[in-house]
Amino acid sequence: MDHFAYRNGELCCERVALGALAADVGTPAYVYSKAALLESLGAYARAFAAVPHVVCYAIKANANLGVLGALARAGAGADIVSGGELYRALRAGVPPRKIIFSGVGKTREELRAALEAGILMFNVESRSELRVLDQVARELGARAPVALRVNPDVDPETHPYIATGLRASKFGIPYDEALEAYEEAAGLEGVEVVGVDMHIGSQLTKTAPFGDAVARVASLVKVLRERSVDIRLVDIGGGLGIRYREEAPPTHAQYATVLLPALSELGVTVLLEPGRSIVGNAGILLTRVLYRKDTGEKQFVVVDAAMNDLIRPALYDSWHELRPVDQARLAGPMEKADVVGPVCESGDFLAKDRELAATEEGDLLAVMSAGAYGFVMSSNYNARPRAVEVLVDGGRYTIVRRRETYEDLVAGETAL
Ligand code: LLP
Repeated sequence: MDHFAYRNGELCCERVALGALAADVGTPAYVYSKAALLESLGAYARAFAAVPHVVCYAIKANANLGVLGALARAGAGADIVSGGELYRALRAGVPPRKIIFSGVGKTREELRAALEAGILMFNVESRSELRVLDQVARELGARAPVALRVNPDVDPETHPYIATGLRASKFGIPYDEALEAYEEAAGLEGVEVVGVDMHIGSQLTKTAPFGDAVARVASLVKVLRERSVDIRLVDIGGGLGIRYREEAPPTHAQYATVLLPALSELGVTVLLEPGRSIVGNAGILLTRVLYRKDTGEKQFVVVDAAMNDLIRPALYDSWHELRPVDQARLAGPMEKADVVGPVCESGDFLAKDRELAATEEGDLLAVMSAGAYGFVMSSNYNARPRAVEVLVDGGRYTIVRRRETYEDLVAGETAL
């Protein structure tokens, strides 16, 4: 169900009218739908009901405490990639036994903090990291539960910046070196081998690459068991795509159907690390039109959200639908325009050469599908305070992160 729909001529998030919301909290504003969050989490739970599993939400996609708390209360675990994300996950109430720690460059301090918290599993990405983790764990008199992130060398057919499962990528341990690495791990006193991990990329819109990768991982698990390495957990990563424009990503059920036969045969607990497919379509960026500008060559719509708020168009040339909050605009004239922000860079655009309903100064626009990799990738470039974040639940909303102030901008700095 679309939790961002028109009611009485106005775009709403669930039952909250976005015009009134913008008047209350200002713009730019990130607005999330709690129902949408819980719906996508629930879709994973239903799709994988046939096997023991934990959905470890990849909190890098949206790490707001309000969002995390809602997901944690609904049973989600967390996939973290830094000490900061560990802190956020724990603060939001994610049980440590549902936290897994991924990432190619974990520091000793981060490893120690995660060991002390008692997390479920470390996804180790290199043999050097394995040795450091072993050492840190022994110093603490602990044993670190470990999976090796294996790079299955399949082509996920996605944007090169977010493809991770190819041999040429920096992620994971090459498939044909995995056995040797597992043998080393099995001999380390500070490490307990419990799982195998993979993650092949993000915004995948086909099931075949997932199927191929899981097949490779499943055969590795069998070989490891023959060598008495007991694998109890298989982490299949995240990466399921969402619809931004015309993509037709597999449904949760289709995704599960392709993977479940190989996984259930293994008799393991399946871990999933979805990020985008949980939050992406559960959030929008609400922005107001500041000015209109016609250069003769081009129409520009200047809005109050910029690349510092949502960097995806500038960084990946990504496409986000723009919806006018006032539905009447859809019945009016169309125009072709660049929708740009106030930042002093030509790369500061939310849409280029876009056919959209003509807008006027003061109009509100919703930048759709902005719940994932939106706020988390925002910055203070051009000394712009970061946007407010709001979580809507039915007819009510909560400010889950207040808009930054100018004081916040200089906090921690020293003027000499
Ligand atoms: N697990 C690992 C180890 C990852 O590296 C990622 C994403 C995920 C899980 C979650 O993937 P998802 O389900 O969200 O596709 N900033 C980019 C996306 C970067 C993804 C990085 N890794 C974007 O805005 O498209």
